[in-house]
Formats: sequence, structure tokens, C-alpha cells
Amino acid sequence: MSIDTQAVAQAGKICTTLVNMKPLTFSILRLLSNNEFHSGATIAQTLGVSRASVSNALRDVDEAGLTVHRVHGRGYRLLDPVQWLEREAILKYLGGEADNFDLVVMDSIDSTNTFLLHDASREINCDRTGIHVVAAELQTGGRGRRGRQWHSGLGGSLAFSMSWQFQQGASFMSGLSLAIGVAILRTFESAGIKNAVLKWPNDVMYNLCKLAGILIELHGDMLGPTVVVIGVGVNLKLSDNIQARIDQGVTDVYSITGRMPDRNALLAALLNDLATALREFERGGFAPFKEEWVSRHLCENKVVKLHLADGSSQEGTVHGVADDGSLLLQTSAGMRSYSGGEITLCRIA
Ligand code: BTN
Repeated sequence: MSIDTQAVAQAGKICTTLVNMKPLTFSILRLLSNNEFHSGATIAQTLGVSRASVSNALRDVDEAGLTVHRVHGRGYRLLDPVQWLEREAILKYLGGEADNFDLVVMDSIDSTNTFLLHDASREINCDRTGIHVVAAELQTGGRGRRGRQWHSGLGGSLAFSMSWQFQQGASFMSGLSLAIGVAILRTFESAGIKNAVLKWPNDVMYNLCKLAGILIELHGDMLGPTVVVIGVGVNLKLSDNIQARIDQGVTDVYSITGRMPDRNALLAALLNDLATALREFERGGFAPFKEEWVSRHLCENKVVKLHLADGSSQEGTVHGVADDGSLLLQTSAGMRSYSGGEITLCRIA
């Protein structure tokens, strides 16, 4: 359910959604992140490059969701300065839990899930030290569920993956993606991002628009052990440029709370809550999360249309989920349980 067991093979098919940005571009953007103008000459001198290289390096940044203000005689400035992800700051926010994590922060990568899946295929059965986490400022080929692309802009989102080794086999993972949704809502609540809800199986929504997405992929065999890669994308403040690429209703934390959260603090809180939820899931599967999940389900007791992978659809009223996370639907033919598909609300109140 919402889990891709062929993940390593599929992850090889990288589809680039954003141009890759050079290390020089990141260095310049970091200099520009103090809300002040910097002349091309000063930037060039600081970084030991030519002014032409500075100008070239900033050419495509709007594609990544940033706007660089260029004013004759004053230089360059970022319209919306970025709060960069910083490993040390994230570890500080993780506090006593920091030693449990093996955290890598990257400027740019195709997909953090792809990266950890390749890692998983090499490391299964090895002794692992710490929970592997990769967070990236920019994903050039971010992946969503059902083969979709995931678009996120530089500084305006969180994109990270965490891997977790279970001793159990793949069948134990049913319902894991729903439990991860619960963990994310717990973090949001503590961070003051109230009233977000879940849409089966694992969309995090606000006002019928998508706020965060979860992509879970597995590596291992049916009997175990299994490495699970949990990818999470959170929309913090989407630029118009990024929103234009997304073909569904989306929202972001900034629109909900009116302020930009501290990205490092929010990421640390998510990592802690995810690790807690994974330990809970390891002990008892999805069942301990079920009540909390159902109470936060956008579609509970509502009439929905379930779109199945074979192209068919089924209409019915949602009556919770089973202990393995499958959707319970009261249909004209009786109560049915579904482990895959995507639902849309039939009537919006
Ligand atoms: C969805 O379709 O709702 C799932 C989106 C998951 C996006 C995240 S961003 C970090 C990680 N890396 C990816 O390529 N995808 C996931």
C-alpha cells in the first residue's frame, strides 16, 4: 500500500524536472541571503571568479523558485532571502537524539529517495550506525507517488529522506505510510501548523490542498530484513514559478500560518517524530496509529470515488481503515477493503 517494492530499479529512471545548479550558484546565493545588495565585483572578488561567471551563475535561478533583484549601480539582492539548511543547526535542534542520526545535507541532488535507495541496496544486512537521513536544498528529479514528479523550490520547502531497517519482511509494512502521515501531523501541531488533515493513503492536506507528500519505497525480500526509505516533501513557501509546475491544488505553511518556519528546527522536529513513530510501528504495526489516523481523515464518512491502478473506479462511503491501513468503503455491493488507489471527494461540503 503506497509502497514501492521495485523501488531501486524504478529509481534508476531519473526524470529531470529542474536544471541542476552549479556549486558557484549556491555560493553566490548564500552571499545574497542577508537581504542586502552586493555588487558583481564584490561577489566576484570574494569568490575568486570573474564578474561574467557571477552573472552566468545567476541566470537560471528563477527556475529554482528564487528571484534575484539586479539594480544598476547597486548589484544583486535576493527578493526573498533563503534560510539555508545547516547540518550543525539541525543536530543542535535534535538535542539528545542527535547521535542517533547520520545526517547529510546536500545542495543539489536528483532525488533524496533515489540516493538512499541505492545506499540501501548496498548496505542491507550490514551493521548500520545511526538513522540515515539525506536532506537537500534542491531536487532536480524529485519523485512523487504513482510515478509523478515532485516539485519544490530552493528555500521554499523541505525535501528529505530517512531510511530505516526493519527485521520484518515487506508484508509487515502495510499501513506504514499512514503511520508516517500521523507522525507528520504530530510535528505540524507542535510547530503551530494546526488543522492539517490526512487523505488516504498518505497525503497531508489543508483546505483540500496538498501541504506535504510522503513517498515510501522498500528494498529487501518478503521475509526480511527490509530497508524502508521514507521520503517527505513539505511545502513551506512555494514561488509562483514552482506552483505553475504543479497540476493539483497546493498550499504551503506560509499561507497557513502567515510566517516562514525555521527550516532547520522544523526538519529536526520531523526527524524526531518520524523516528518515534517508526519505533512504535516496529513494535505494533499500524494498529496503534489507527484511531488517531481516522480522526484526522479528511474523507471519513464522506462519499468518495476510489481510482484503482487498472483504470477502474469505485464509489462508496469511507468507514475508516483496517489494521493494515486498507481503506474500508461501504459500496452498493457491501463493505469492501482496498489496499491501493487514490480517492477524490465526490461532494465538497
Ligand atoms: C507524493 O506524491 O505525495 C509524494 C511526494 C514525496 C516527495 C519527497 S521530497 C523528498 C523525497 N525525494 C523524492 O524524490 N521524493 C520524496
